[in-house]
Amino acid sequence: MKKVVISALAKVNIFLNVLARRNDGYHDLESIMQSISLHDTVTLTVLSFGPSVLTLTDGGDLPTDKRNLALAAWLLFKEKFDIRENIAIHIKKRIPVSAGLAGGSSDAAAVLRGARELFGVATDADLFALAAQLGSDVPFCLFGGTALAKGRGEKLLPMPALPKFYFVLVNPGMALATKSVYQLFDKKSWPILSIDNIIEAMRHQDAAGILQFAANGLEAASLEFCPVLAEIKAELNLFGLLPLVCGSGPTVMGLTQDEGAALAAMKCLYFKWPFVELAWAKDYSD
Ligand code: C5P
Repeated sequence: MKKVVISALAKVNIFLNVLARRNDGYHDLESIMQSISLHDTVTLTVLSFGPSVLTLTDGGDLPTDKRNLALAAWLLFKEKFDIRENIAIHIKKRIPVSAGLAGGSSDAAAVLRGARELFGVATDADLFALAAQLGSDVPFCLFGGTALAKGRGEKLLPMPALPKFYFVLVNPGMALATKSVYQLFDKKSWPILSIDNIIEAMRHQDAAGILQFAANGLEAASLEFCPVLAEIKAELNLFGLLPLVCGSGPTVMGLTQDEGAALAAMKCLYFKWPFVELAWAKDYSD
């Protein structure tokens, strides 16, 4: 039986500035995206009979029909390359759902990469075009690493790898719909951020500068939905970590170069919050 097993890495935004709302309802962004070690595991198996199916372990209430981006990705790939066979997709979820970590987008990207490996078709450009049809974060999730993202997130420029940081991820056990956070963002005016300083800090591998200029323009909107995030931020801060909401939230990451501080925060927060995980920057090359 032909089968591939693929990791689907979570994504965080080290910097996220939301620009104008566009006519298509999306927002133009400028963001520094980073893939991290937290991952789902996606297994694709070619079936000898029956329709394509998706099953999940630890997927909670996630749908398993084509509302799930992973199955949608396969159906798009199958149609584009006129593939007759069907597959079984199994996803072992570890990335919290609707958490600002691009878990669903990364699963969909993993399906595209896995399908290419199984059927030996599709160029990088083909996968990229399919990814952009599926969602704003899916193109980044195809290749991961460190990137400057523009447009609605699909215009990507690779960036030098970050200096070593630990990412302590804390999720309060609730889901937040990205769309709702953007809608609240549109209703108010928020401080304008500049990306230039963090790009300069990244060019010089200046860890202190990166921590100084790391920011998330969606954070205030996300905090309005989940005031408890302020408590998580304060706790991470107590351990000397830079707390930042991930994407549209509600996961909060604490950034530090100090392994001892990361472990101390982990130990303390682990029994308080439903999801606490230590992660580091990772891409698909290692
Ligand atoms: O592209 P994706 O389906 O992941 O986006 C989810 C929602 O987030 C969109 O429906 C839109 O409301 C919002 N969004 C946005 N601008 C972006 C990305 C997402 O407004 N650049």
